Amino acid sequence: MTTEAPHSLDPASLLAWQIAMGADEAIGDEPIDRFSAPVPTVQPQKAASAVKMSTEQRGPRTVAAKPVQSIAGDGADAATAAASSAQSLEELRAALEAFDGGLLKRSAKNLVFSDGIFGAPIMVVGEAPGADEDRMGKPFVGVSGQLLDRMLGAAGMSREENVYISNILPWRPLGNRAPDDAVIAMCLPFIRRHIELAQPKLVLMFGGVSAKALLETTEGITRLRGKWKTLSVGGADIPALPIFHPAYLLRQPHLKGMAWRDLLAAKHKLAELS
Ligand code: URA
Repeated sequence: MTTEAPHSLDPASLLAWQIAMGADEAIGDEPIDRFSAPVPTVQPQKAASAVKMSTEQRGPRTVAAKPVQSIAGDGADAATAAASSAQSLEELRAALEAFDGGLLKRSAKNLVFSDGIFGAPIMVVGEAPGADEDRMGKPFVGVSGQLLDRMLGAAGMSREENVYISNILPWRPLGNRAPDDAVIAMCLPFIRRHIELAQPKLVLMFGGVSAKALLETTEGITRLRGKWKTLSVGGADIPALPIFHPAYLLRQPHLKGMAWRDLLAAKHKLAELS
């Protein structure tokens, strides 16, 4: 796939190129027909300086989004303060609703806080909501969620009975793009506080993003999976197991056996802890 914009100004090719580049959503309530906007003529003497256009020439004003990086960087301290002020899961949800999560939050339809049983002994932490989760405001409700439910079920676990589910990111990243370090830094205080308030007996970290963020490591999921770690949150040490993400298993079904083995290990650990 080429990353060069097409030379043709044919709207269909430009749109196809934008979709190929990952732009799968429009931001803004009203579409702007930039093709019908008059093209400003640049006077030679003004070419090097900004050309002033009337509002009519410019078309509707769009507010440039601040880059995620700077908002998220600024947001990490604010996130720590907001997360630590929450004294219950309800207050944590309210803190996220009130938090300025920058472009990440603005581009999402819904906050995806959690699903499952409050106070469950097992807490699943995934990566980030996808389009289905964003629409429904619940984690793991799309195809990878269906596989997650089957995997948990095989080990005698379910969100109706003994599992509580959340994600590192509480909002869907635009175009499902992989979250960068600054976005993760902004979301980490919230998910750490979430674990602290949920008080699970053990945490299952699904996928590399989840395991790396919570364990603060750069090691990949292939090395991490199946090895018990300890999460220290709010004075408690919680056993935590990295497991392949169901979305990854949908692409690499031959690895399912390992994930199933890891879930059985989690089931045994839970029996030991009970
Ligand atoms: N993938 C995740 O990691 N979390 C979800 O909620 C959905 C898909």
